[in-house]
Amino acid sequence: MKILRVICSPRGSSSESYRLSQTIINHLIISHRGSDFIIAERGVGGLAHVDADYAAAVSKRRDSSSAVVTTGALLQSERLIRELESADYVVIATPMHNMTIPSALKAWLDHVIQADRTFRITPQGKIALLRDRPVFVAVSSGGTFSTDNASQPDFLRPYLKAALATIGLLNVKFFSVEGTAQKPDALSATRERTERETALYFSKPLQATV
Ligand SMILES: Cc1cc2nc3c(=O)[nH]c(=O)nc-3n(C[C@H](O)[C@H](O)[C@H](O)COP(=O)(O)O)c2cc1C
Repeated sequence: MKILRVICSPRGSSSESYRLSQTIINHLIISHRGSDFIIAERGVGGLAHVDADYAAAVSKRRDSSSAVVTTGALLQSERLIRELESADYVVIATPMHNMTIPSALKAWLDHVIQADRTFRITPQGKIALLRDRPVFVAVSSGGTFSTDNASQPDFLRPYLKAALATIGLLNVKFFSVEGTAQKPDALSATRERTERETALYFSKPLQATV
């Protein structure tokens, strides 16, 4: 089994979202007791944005023989797509930045959501080309965004769900630690609540719940 962990916080493995992603990964490993796991760690903080060659390539229609590029400007994207294709599970560890995903995660999405490679444009709309697989998203935010009295709008979850659906990843489950800007006692209680919710979710058979 291969888990691809996409690490989006500038704080890397010291981040709150990474910590929550580790809880998710631990549950996944426990729920597949006896299986060997490989965890591929993909930090996206240093990813170059897509460039002019990339934009030129995806704006013209390509046939399937030219879609897979292993040299040149699209090489980085192709590596990231293959890494994603080979994963059984994807775990995205991300903070909320300015009410949505951080720009590092957007850069990764721009690489992996590639016309004529991971989705196709047809007169009827976009057709996803990747096999679906479970995606777990560990979100951390300074304020709240999912509660009734949320402190801000949530552009993170709807956007990320729609973006991943474009390429065929429909099976997306979010967990969050919201309110990291709170006083330490309140934050501890929030973390514990998230831990309980995560444990409850993974206590049920995975296929039935994702
Ligand atoms: C550039 C930037 C923008 C942020 N914008 C928001 C925001 O819009 N809403 C929010 O609740 N927290 C915001 N935060 C706070 C982070 O979401 C919060 O500190 C989070 O716990 C960081 O998670 P991490 O440790 O995984 O990086 C922002 C932080 C930074 C650095």
